[in-house]
Amino acid sequence: MKYFVANWKANKNLDEALRWIDIFAKQLPEKNGAKIIICPPFQLLYSLAEKIKKLKNIYLGAQDISAFNNGNFTGEVTAKMLKNLIQYSIIGHSERRKYFSETDKEIEKKVIQAKKNQIEPILCVRDEKDKIFPQVKIVAYEPVFAIGTGINESPEKVLFMKKRLNLKSNTIFLYGGSVNEVNIKKYLSTNEIDGFLIGAASLDPIRFSHIIKLASFKTALKNKSEEN
Ligand code: PGA
Repeated sequence: MKYFVANWKANKNLDEALRWIDIFAKQLPEKNGAKIIICPPFQLLYSLAEKIKKLKNIYLGAQDISAFNNGNFTGEVTAKMLKNLIQYSIIGHSERRKYFSETDKEIEKKVIQAKKNQIEPILCVRDEKDKIFPQVKIVAYEPVFAIGTGINESPEKVLFMKKRLNLKSNTIFLYGGSVNEVNIKKYLSTNEIDGFLIGAASLDPIRFSHIIKLASFKTALKNKSEEN
């Protein structure tokens, strides 16, 4: 089963998000063999949780989570508030590290808060210098040059970095950085990449579902050839 994480970043209001789900649900094949995690901005989480209740294999994630527990931290959204609403949270995205000066120390606190509240962190790393914490099960490698630029990292280089990251054998390894409906095919030829963190191409439900369809087609073909 491949992971497809939609990172909407600071995009979409409620109307746009609801329309996205309607179109996406129509496009998605019943048996898609995918684990789909939609990460909208915070304000959409409750409405989308309601909306996706009846859809299979679709989960909700946040794009970030507070390093603090509840309390006097104006503007923060804590893991405790989101407990039972979301199943995942992106943590340590390079845009957070860059524009909000997040450090490994702060990111570790976020990971701890998420775990404490049964939210699975999707830890983003830019390279082997970013810390990977022992309790993290899902790691997304996202080289900065590839994010939002249209210049994706080659699968060979992604796998090279995977080795350098020295992950535990049961870590779920994702790649992110300009993944789209054209270049996805190259990544699908290896079993070493467990899924994708997708920004720009996830904003359009047709493009995002197209990517998932290509992957499920590939999986179906593979299963068939293994049967024979
Ligand atoms: P992108 O974003 O697919 O637009 O490059 C990926 C990400 O930042 O997670």
